[in-house]
Amino acid sequence: MENSMPVIEVRDLDLSYGDVTIMSGLNFKVQKGDIFIVMGPSGCGKSTLLKVMIGLKDPEKGKVLYGGESFWDQDFPGQQAMMRRFGVLYQGGALWSSLTLEENVALPLQIYANLSAEQIREVVRVKLALVGLAGYANFYPAQISGGMRKRAGLARAIALDPDIIFFDEPSAGLDPVSARMLDDLILQLRDALGATIVVVTHELASIFAVGNSAIFLDPESRTMIASGSPKDLLANSSDPRVIQFLTRGEKQGA
Ligand SMILES: Nc1ncnc2c1ncn2[C@@H]1O[C@H](COP(=O)(O)OP(=O)(O)OP(=O)(O)O)[C@@H](O)[C@H]1O
Ligand SMILES: [Mg+2]
Repeated sequence: MENSMPVIEVRDLDLSYGDVTIMSGLNFKVQKGDIFIVMGPSGCGKSTLLKVMIGLKDPEKGKVLYGGESFWDQDFPGQQAMMRRFGVLYQGGALWSSLTLEENVALPLQIYANLSAEQIREVVRVKLALVGLAGYANFYPAQISGGMRKRAGLARAIALDPDIIFFDEPSAGLDPVSARMLDDLILQLRDALGATIVVVTHELASIFAVGNSAIFLDPESRTMIASGSPKDLLANSSDPRVIQFLTRGEKQGA
Protein backbone atom coordinates (compact mmCIF):
# COMPACT_ATOMS: atom_id res chain seq x y z
CA MET A 1 0.00 0.00 0.00
CA GLU A 2 2.12 2.83 -1.24
CA ASN A 3 -0.31 5.51 -0.11
CA SER A 4 -0.48 4.34 3.50
CA MET A 5 0.51 6.82 6.17
CA PRO A 6 4.19 6.52 7.12
CA VAL A 7 4.87 5.52 10.74
CA ILE A 8 7.43 8.33 10.94
CA GLU A 9 7.88 11.35 8.73
CA VAL A 10 10.65 13.91 9.16
CA ARG A 11 10.01 17.22 7.38
CA ASP A 12 12.51 20.02 6.76
CA LEU A 13 14.32 19.22 9.99
CA ASP A 14 17.30 21.28 11.17
CA LEU A 15 19.42 20.19 14.16
CA SER A 16 21.68 22.47 16.15
CA TYR A 17 23.51 22.98 19.42
CA GLY A 18 23.29 26.66 20.30
CA ASP A 19 24.45 28.60 17.25
CA VAL A 20 26.08 25.59 15.62
CA THR A 21 23.97 23.89 12.95
CA ILE A 22 24.74 20.17 12.83
CA MET A 23 22.35 19.13 10.05
CA SER A 24 19.72 20.89 8.00
CA GLY A 25 17.04 20.04 5.47
CA LEU A 26 16.37 16.46 6.58
CA ASN A 27 13.36 14.89 4.87
CA PHE A 28 12.45 11.20 5.00
CA LYS A 29 9.67 8.71 5.70
CA VAL A 30 9.76 5.42 7.60
CA GLN A 31 7.07 2.87 6.71
CA LYS A 32 5.57 0.23 8.99
CA GLY A 33 7.87 -2.79 9.28
CA ASP A 34 10.88 -0.93 7.89
CA ILE A 35 14.31 -1.38 9.36
CA PHE A 36 15.46 2.13 8.63
CA ILE A 37 19.16 2.95 8.90
CA VAL A 38 20.61 6.36 9.74
CA MET A 39 24.20 6.13 8.50
CA GLY A 40 27.14 8.42 8.11
CA PRO A 41 30.63 9.04 9.44
CA SER A 42 31.42 9.57 13.11
CA GLY A 43 30.31 12.95 14.42
CA CYS A 44 27.93 13.74 11.53
CA GLY A 45 24.87 14.00 13.80
CA LYS A 46 23.26 10.55 13.86
CA SER A 47 22.75 10.44 17.63
CA THR A 48 21.53 14.03 17.62
CA LEU A 49 18.89 13.12 15.02
CA LEU A 50 17.85 10.14 17.15
CA LYS A 51 17.52 12.37 20.23
CA VAL A 52 15.25 14.75 18.35
CA MET A 53 13.17 11.85 17.02
CA ILE A 54 12.63 10.28 20.46
CA GLY A 55 11.81 13.53 22.20
CA LEU A 56 15.02 14.15 24.17
CA LYS A 57 16.10 17.27 22.27
CA ASP A 58 14.02 19.81 20.42
CA PRO A 59 14.73 20.59 16.78
CA GLU A 60 15.97 23.95 15.56
CA LYS A 61 13.31 23.83 12.85
CA GLY A 62 10.99 21.37 11.11
CA LYS A 63 8.75 18.52 12.17
CA VAL A 64 8.84 14.92 13.31
CA LEU A 65 5.46 13.29 12.66
CA TYR A 66 4.24 9.99 14.10
CA GLY A 67 1.17 8.66 12.30
CA GLY A 68 0.76 12.18 10.89
CA GLU A 69 0.88 13.90 14.31
CA SER A 70 3.67 16.36 14.97
CA PHE A 71 5.61 15.34 18.08
CA TRP A 72 7.08 18.75 18.89
CA ASP A 73 3.67 20.48 18.51
CA GLN A 74 2.08 18.32 21.25
CA ASP A 75 1.69 19.44 24.84
CA PHE A 76 3.71 17.50 27.43
CA PRO A 77 1.09 14.79 28.10
CA GLY A 78 0.69 14.36 24.33
CA GLN A 79 4.45 13.91 23.95
CA GLN A 80 4.50 11.46 26.86
CA ALA A 81 1.75 9.41 25.22
CA MET A 82 3.74 9.24 21.97
CA MET A 83 6.95 8.35 23.81
CA ARG A 84 5.18 5.42 25.46
CA ARG A 85 5.04 3.77 22.03
CA PHE A 86 8.85 3.95 21.64
CA GLY A 87 11.41 1.42 22.80
CA VAL A 88 14.97 2.69 22.90
CA LEU A 89 18.26 0.81 23.14
CA TYR A 90 20.92 3.35 24.03
CA GLN A 91 24.51 2.95 22.96
CA GLY A 92 25.85 1.66 26.29
CA GLY A 93 22.92 -0.67 27.00
CA ALA A 94 22.40 1.40 30.16
CA LEU A 95 21.26 -1.32 32.57
CA TRP A 96 21.15 -0.65 36.31
CA SER A 97 24.17 -2.49 37.66
CA SER A 98 22.64 -3.07 41.11
CA LEU A 99 19.54 -4.74 39.66
CA THR A 100 19.23 -8.26 38.22
CA LEU A 101 18.18 -8.67 34.59
CA GLU A 102 14.66 -9.52 35.78
CA GLU A 103 14.51 -6.34 37.87
CA ASN A 104 15.92 -4.24 35.02
CA VAL A 105 13.33 -5.48 32.52
CA ALA A 106 10.53 -5.21 35.10
CA LEU A 107 11.25 -1.52 35.76
CA PRO A 108 9.30 0.05 32.87
CA LEU A 109 6.44 -2.38 33.52
CA GLN A 110 6.26 -1.36 37.19
CA ILE A 111 6.24 2.31 36.22
CA TYR A 112 3.89 2.27 33.23
CA ALA A 113 1.89 -0.95 33.05
CA ASN A 114 -1.06 -1.72 35.25
CA LEU A 115 -0.04 -5.32 36.00
CA SER A 116 0.27 -7.50 39.10
CA ALA A 117 3.69 -8.66 40.30
CA GLU A 118 2.87 -12.11 38.97
CA GLN A 119 1.92 -10.76 35.53
CA ILE A 120 5.07 -8.64 35.41
CA ARG A 121 7.19 -11.70 36.19
CA GLU A 122 5.55 -13.52 33.30
CA VAL A 123 6.07 -10.65 30.83
CA VAL A 124 9.72 -10.39 31.90
CA ARG A 125 10.16 -14.14 31.41
CA VAL A 126 8.76 -13.91 27.86
CA LYS A 127 10.90 -10.87 26.93
CA LEU A 128 14.11 -12.41 28.26
CA ALA A 129 13.33 -15.59 26.31
CA LEU A 130 12.70 -13.52 23.15
CA VAL A 131 16.24 -12.11 23.30
CA GLY A 132 17.81 -15.48 24.11
CA LEU A 133 18.34 -14.86 27.83
CA ALA A 134 15.96 -17.43 29.34
CA GLY A 135 17.59 -18.67 32.53
CA TYR A 136 19.54 -15.44 33.20
CA ALA A 137 16.79 -13.59 35.09
CA ASN A 138 18.72 -13.56 38.36
CA PHE A 139 22.08 -12.54 36.91
CA TYR A 140 23.51 -9.06 37.43
CA PRO A 141 24.79 -7.07 34.41
CA ALA A 142 28.41 -7.51 35.54
CA GLN A 143 28.00 -11.30 35.42
CA ILE A 144 27.17 -11.50 31.69
CA SER A 145 29.00 -10.62 28.46
CA GLY A 146 28.72 -7.34 26.54
CA GLY A 147 26.56 -8.96 23.87
CA MET A 148 24.22 -10.37 26.53
CA ARG A 149 23.99 -6.94 28.17
CA LYS A 150 22.92 -5.45 24.83
CA ARG A 151 20.26 -8.14 24.54
CA ALA A 152 19.09 -7.50 28.11
CA GLY A 153 18.84 -3.79 27.24
CA LEU A 154 16.76 -4.83 24.25
CA ALA A 155 14.47 -6.96 26.46
CA ARG A 156 13.89 -3.85 28.57
CA ALA A 157 13.31 -1.70 25.47
CA ILE A 158 10.56 -4.09 24.29
CA ALA A 159 8.99 -4.61 27.75
CA LEU A 160 6.02 -2.38 26.92
CA ASP A 161 5.52 -3.80 23.39
CA PRO A 162 6.63 -0.67 21.53
CA ASP A 163 5.43 0.08 18.00
CA ILE A 164 8.78 1.66 17.14
CA ILE A 165 12.20 0.57 18.40
CA PHE A 166 15.21 2.89 18.16
CA PHE A 167 18.77 1.59 18.36
CA ASP A 168 21.87 3.75 18.73
CA GLU A 169 24.95 1.85 17.49
CA PRO A 170 23.68 -1.55 18.67
CA SER A 171 26.78 -3.45 17.62
CA ALA A 172 29.38 -0.94 18.85
CA GLY A 173 31.97 -2.68 21.00
CA LEU A 174 30.74 -6.20 20.19
CA ASP A 175 32.80 -8.95 18.59
CA PRO A 176 31.62 -9.91 15.07
CA VAL A 177 29.73 -13.02 16.24
CA SER A 178 27.81 -11.13 18.96
CA ALA A 179 27.17 -8.31 16.50
CA ARG A 180 25.71 -10.77 14.00
CA MET A 181 23.49 -12.32 16.70
CA LEU A 182 22.15 -8.88 17.52
CA ASP A 183 21.43 -8.19 13.84
CA ASP A 184 19.53 -11.50 13.61
CA LEU A 185 17.60 -10.55 16.73
CA ILE A 186 16.63 -7.18 15.22
CA LEU A 187 15.20 -8.99 12.18
CA GLN A 188 13.36 -11.52 14.37
CA LEU A 189 11.86 -8.80 16.57
CA ARG A 190 10.61 -6.84 13.60
CA ASP A 191 8.81 -9.98 12.44
CA ALA A 192 7.65 -11.18 15.89
CA LEU A 193 6.45 -7.80 17.19
CA GLY A 194 5.44 -6.21 13.88
CA ALA A 195 7.52 -3.25 15.02
CA THR A 196 9.09 -0.52 12.94
CA ILE A 197 12.80 -0.13 13.64
CA VAL A 198 15.24 2.77 13.34
CA VAL A 199 18.92 1.90 13.64
CA VAL A 200 21.72 4.46 13.92
CA THR A 201 24.95 2.81 12.87
CA HIS A 202 28.13 3.06 10.88
CA GLU A 203 28.72 -0.74 10.92
CA LEU A 204 28.68 -1.82 7.28
CA ALA A 205 27.86 -5.46 8.05
CA SER A 206 24.75 -4.41 10.02
CA ILE A 207 23.69 -1.87 7.43
CA PHE A 208 23.55 -4.51 4.69
CA ALA A 209 22.27 -7.32 6.95
CA VAL A 210 19.22 -5.59 8.37
CA GLY A 211 18.46 -2.32 6.57
CA ASN A 212 15.77 -2.11 3.89
CA SER A 213 15.82 1.67 3.79
CA ALA A 214 18.40 4.27 4.77
CA ILE A 215 19.59 7.84 4.72
CA PHE A 216 23.20 9.01 4.57
CA LEU A 217 24.20 12.09 6.56
CA ASP A 218 27.18 14.01 5.20
CA PRO A 219 29.15 16.08 7.73
CA GLU A 220 30.73 18.36 5.09
CA SER A 221 27.52 19.65 3.52
CA ARG A 222 25.62 19.12 6.80
CA THR A 223 22.65 17.49 5.18
CA MET A 224 21.47 14.10 3.90
CA ILE A 225 22.98 13.38 0.51
CA ALA A 226 21.37 9.99 -0.22
CA SER A 227 18.36 7.87 0.63
CA GLY A 228 17.17 4.44 -0.43
CA SER A 229 17.93 0.81 0.31
CA PRO A 230 21.60 0.29 1.24
CA LYS A 231 22.02 -2.33 -1.52
CA ASP A 232 20.55 -0.01 -4.15
CA LEU A 233 22.73 2.85 -2.97
CA LEU A 234 25.82 0.67 -3.23
CA ALA A 235 24.82 -0.49 -6.72
CA ASN A 236 23.52 2.79 -8.11
CA SER A 237 24.76 5.83 -6.22
CA SER A 238 26.93 8.12 -8.27
CA ASP A 239 28.08 10.07 -5.21
CA PRO A 240 31.69 9.21 -4.34
CA ARG A 241 31.11 10.03 -0.63
CA VAL A 242 28.33 7.45 -0.40
CA ILE A 243 30.28 4.81 -2.32
CA GLN A 244 33.40 5.45 -0.28
CA PHE A 245 31.43 4.99 2.94
CA LEU A 246 29.64 1.84 1.74
CA THR A 247 32.85 0.21 0.52
CA ARG A 248 35.04 1.42 3.38
CA GLY A 249 37.05 3.36 0.84
CA GLU A 250 37.93 0.31 -1.25
CA LYS A 251 36.30 1.85 -4.31
CA GLN A 252 37.62 5.32 -3.53
CA GLY A 253 37.44 7.55 -6.54
CA ALA A 254 35.14 5.12 -8.42
N1 LIG B 1 25.65 18.27 23.78
C1 LIG B 1 26.34 18.75 22.74
N2 LIG B 1 26.68 20.06 22.68
C2 LIG B 1 27.34 20.56 21.62
N3 LIG B 1 27.72 19.85 20.55
C3 LIG B 1 27.41 18.55 20.56
C4 LIG B 1 26.71 17.93 21.64
N4 LIG B 1 26.54 16.61 21.35
C5 LIG B 1 27.12 16.43 20.14
N5 LIG B 1 27.64 17.58 19.66
C6 LIG B 1 28.31 17.76 18.36
O1 LIG B 1 27.37 17.49 17.35
C7 LIG B 1 27.95 16.76 16.28
C8 LIG B 1 27.16 15.51 16.03
O2 LIG B 1 27.25 14.65 17.16
P1 LIG B 1 26.51 13.26 17.23
O3 LIG B 1 26.83 12.65 18.54
O4 LIG B 1 25.08 13.44 16.87
O5 LIG B 1 27.25 12.48 16.03
P2 LIG B 1 27.18 10.94 15.64
O6 LIG B 1 26.97 10.89 14.16
O7 LIG B 1 26.22 10.23 16.50
O8 LIG B 1 28.68 10.43 15.95
P3 LIG B 1 29.21 8.96 16.37
O9 LIG B 1 29.18 8.14 15.11
O10 LIG B 1 30.62 9.23 16.80
O11 LIG B 1 28.33 8.44 17.47
C9 LIG B 1 29.41 16.52 16.67
O12 LIG B 1 30.18 17.47 16.03
C10 LIG B 1 29.42 16.74 18.17
O13 LIG B 1 30.66 17.26 18.58
MG1 LIG C 1 26.40 8.67 17.90
